[in-house]
Amino acid sequence: MRLQKKPEPDDGMSDYYLACLTPADADRLKPLEELVRLAFWGEENYRRFLEELPEYFGCKAVRITGRNRDELIGFLLARALYESLELLKLGVFPQWQRRGVGTQLIETAFSEGLRRGCSRCFLEVRKSNENAIQFYYGHGFRIAGTRIHYYTDPVEDAWVMEKELA
Ligand SMILES: CC(C)(COP(=O)(O)OP(=O)(O)OC[C@H]1O[C@@H](n2cnc3c(N)ncnc32)[C@H](O)[C@@H]1OP(=O)(O)O)[C@@H](O)C(=O)NCCC(=O)NCCS
Repeated sequence: MRLQKKPEPDDGMSDYYLACLTPADADRLKPLEELVRLAFWGEENYRRFLEELPEYFGCKAVRITGRNRDELIGFLLARALYESLELLKLGVFPQWQRRGVGTQLIETAFSEGLRRGCSRCFLEVRKSNENAIQFYYGHGFRIAGTRIHYYTDPVEDAWVMEKELA
């Protein structure tokens, strides 16, 4: 996976980098997912996706702290199946949003999807999640359909959004 850091003037994020999501990251996804209201799928499942199932991959944005473990600021999980790249999870800690981190994560996923032979990308998003929908519009997605009662807690329909990759 090709990873790059966006060059930015010093805005307090100068010490962060992008890297592959690994099974060792599974334990730190829960706090982020709870905070940004993504459905946590369980540490064991994340480990299995990243360890045993080669169609899954992920990337993370990490801030260098100088302590034992760098701080996770965002992550993305995706699955590449034949021509389709499915974006399964994308989240950035609120204090790091609107600084281009989500864009770098999604662009990394597009590159990896293309490298794996995918020609289209799709995802589901809660119909009420205006912020994410704006973000995805900005990255060339369009609404392709609806999945009725796709989400639980609370129950809600999803938009299916898609874009051509190639
Ligand atoms: C969606 C999300 C990943 C975007 O991450 P991010 O790092 O803030 O995104 P970026 O800074 O790269 O934003 C790029 C552009 O997307 C659009 N955008 C992003 N967040 C937006 C918001 N809250 N409202 C309106 N537009 C937004 C803007 O056009 C933005 O460009 P700008 O900041 O120059 O105006 C982040 O808001 C998030 O984690 N949300 C909670 C979890 C979630 O909903 N995930 C998606 C589930 S399907």
